[in-house]
Amino acid sequence: MNSFEMRPPARGRVLVYGAYGHTGRFVVAELVRRGLEPVLSGHSADRLADLARVYPGLEVRPAPDGRALGRAVAGTAAVVNTAGPFLDTAGPVAAAAVAAGAHYLDVTAEQPAAAATLDEVGAAAAAAGVAVLPAMAFYGGLADLLATAAAGGDPVEAVTVAVGLDGWRPTAGTRITGERNTAPRLLVDGGELVPLTAVAPAGRDWDFPAPLGRRAVVALPFSEVVLLHHHLGAKRITSYLNEEPLAQLRDPATPAPEAADTSGRSAQRFAVDVRVRVDGTERRATAVGRDIYAVTAPLLAEAVARLLDGRVRAVGARAPGEVFDAADFLAALAPDPLALTLPRPLPVR
Ligand SMILES: NC(=O)c1ccc[n+]([C@@H]2O[C@H](COP(=O)([O-])OP(=O)(O)OC[C@H]3O[C@@H](n4cnc5c(N)ncnc54)[C@H](OP(=O)(O)O)[C@@H]3O)[C@@H](O)[C@H]2O)c1
Repeated sequence: MNSFEMRPPARGRVLVYGAYGHTGRFVVAELVRRGLEPVLSGHSADRLADLARVYPGLEVRPAPDGRALGRAVAGTAAVVNTAGPFLDTAGPVAAAAVAAGAHYLDVTAEQPAAAATLDEVGAAAAAAGVAVLPAMAFYGGLADLLATAAAGGDPVEAVTVAVGLDGWRPTAGTRITGERNTAPRLLVDGGELVPLTAVAPAGRDWDFPAPLGRRAVVALPFSEVVLLHHHLGAKRITSYLNEEPLAQLRDPATPAPEAADTSGRSAQRFAVDVRVRVDGTERRATAVGRDIYAVTAPLLAEAVARLLDGRVRAVGARAPGEVFDAADFLAALAPDPLALTLPRPLPVR
């Protein structure tokens, strides 16, 4: 879109389910910052009341059960679900959103939750003319957008994703979700989703962009594999994470994230490095930034804004790379909160 075209402003209420969680709070703040209209929701009326004191102008709709959830989503344009484990919440919240004619987005890192949402809600979402986007987050959607932008519409043979973190202080929600999700992790080999243990890619060293640099990584796929497999048709999709944050995640003594500034962002640094093989050559797309929980908020809010003002290529249950112009989406978040390198220059904005 060039600067002479008028775009309608994004309108409509955006229900945030899980609004008082660590990630939910970043999402509410980002939606408010963008002039969108969040409605605070979740299953605890008491914890919502505490959050509502921070945002006296915002509507509050507690949803402790399915019936209340149906009432809460009524009349909203989009529902953002930040309440994990998503193996427990994505099914009912996505179904309620679609039944109410609202777009649905969540932040699952759990592969089986993302796969179930894509499989089970797609037909109803397409019929309702709404988009359903599981994993519109740091783990999941960010790598999907980077790979889609790098591919530029060309047929993709293989995708390799490497996530580098200089440390990982997990939230309570991350720990509970990790315990809840016992499904084998999946990679793509021969064009099919297969258990990680069947392929067992060896650990290796990975050269991340600064400030991460060279780190030892191990194969550890998250929801991005499910999203990439959904639309790119690559024969191999592999994901890695560097070893230090994994050790911190597995140590029960590692503390929760700590705010390093008034926005609540921690000092954690990340790099997401995506290599896409097209016609025998490798294309690389990278994103560097701060705080994997906090950066999920602008990713979600950018998606919501585009859904509400009509900058979408498809509806139904989709990966973000299918729904949005991936390079344009990423360019909207650069250089802060994402410092990007893409194979082609970023679109002029
Ligand atoms: N893909 C990514 O990159 C990414 C990024 C950020 C977060 N996440 C995921 O998002 C989830 C939340 O993380 P967080 O850091 O925000 O954790 P958190 O601060 O512990 O918040 C979790 C939220 O989920 C709610 N919740 C948990 N189980 C629920 C259920 N069965 N029904 C309704 N609400 C429920 C909690 O409410 P109560 O406390 O009242 O139970 C709370 O509001 C986790 O699964 C995490 O892995 C993923």
